[in-house]
Amino acid sequence: MSHAGIPWLERDSRESEERTSALLDALDLRPGMSVADIGAGSGRLTVPMARRVAPGIAYGTDIQPEMLAFLEARARTEGLVNLKGILGDTLDVNLPEGSVDLVLLVDAYHEFDHPWEMARSMLHALRPGGRVALVEFRAEDPEVPIKGLHKMAEAQCRREFEAAGFRWLRTDPRLPWQHLVWFERPITP
Ligand SMILES: C[S@@+](CC[C@H](N)C(=O)[O-])C[C@H]1O[C@@H](n2cnc3c(N)ncnc32)[C@H](O)[C@@H]1O
Repeated sequence: MSHAGIPWLERDSRESEERTSALLDALDLRPGMSVADIGAGSGRLTVPMARRVAPGIAYGTDIQPEMLAFLEARARTEGLVNLKGILGDTLDVNLPEGSVDLVLLVDAYHEFDHPWEMARSMLHALRPGGRVALVEFRAEDPEVPIKGLHKMAEAQCRREFEAAGFRWLRTDPRLPWQHLVWFERPITP
């Protein structure tokens, strides 16, 4: 999605449609955690994550400088000194090895040009035992009013992350339109 889509990411109806607050609760964020929102866009999820993990760090990564500019301006306005924007690229999240406890991906992974390389890069950015929360619109559900191109089936999510070295933990059914699929970086490879 281009940065011209910021108003859509920020729309008021998003809470009732996607239940973003239920998603945030499901993440079980604690003060002091280090977390990364990959493909953060405008920071709709990164900002509340930063509030919940403070004084821990919340990284918001994106490949569009315009998205990062929006996110960083918002962090400044809200005085969130623990929110850091990171310019990623299509192959790499550009985070240090083993630096985060949790990676969040909301409606972003299906957009990646190089999903396998990005998944490997996220695996390395997580500490061993660190978790990924993958959120994608349900391809199996024709009632979800999103184009098929922007949806993923749970089986495909699992296939791709397991192939990249992650261990599937569980799939949480609490969101109305999206899969919330949990993976971890195995402690022993
Ligand atoms: C549909 S938006 C979702 C934004 C945000 N996660 C949300 O739910 O509000 C997808 C974002 O992924 C970003 N993106 C695409 N490929 C990326 C990559 N390889 N690394 C980081 N961000 C990427 C896009 O620039 C876009 O901002």
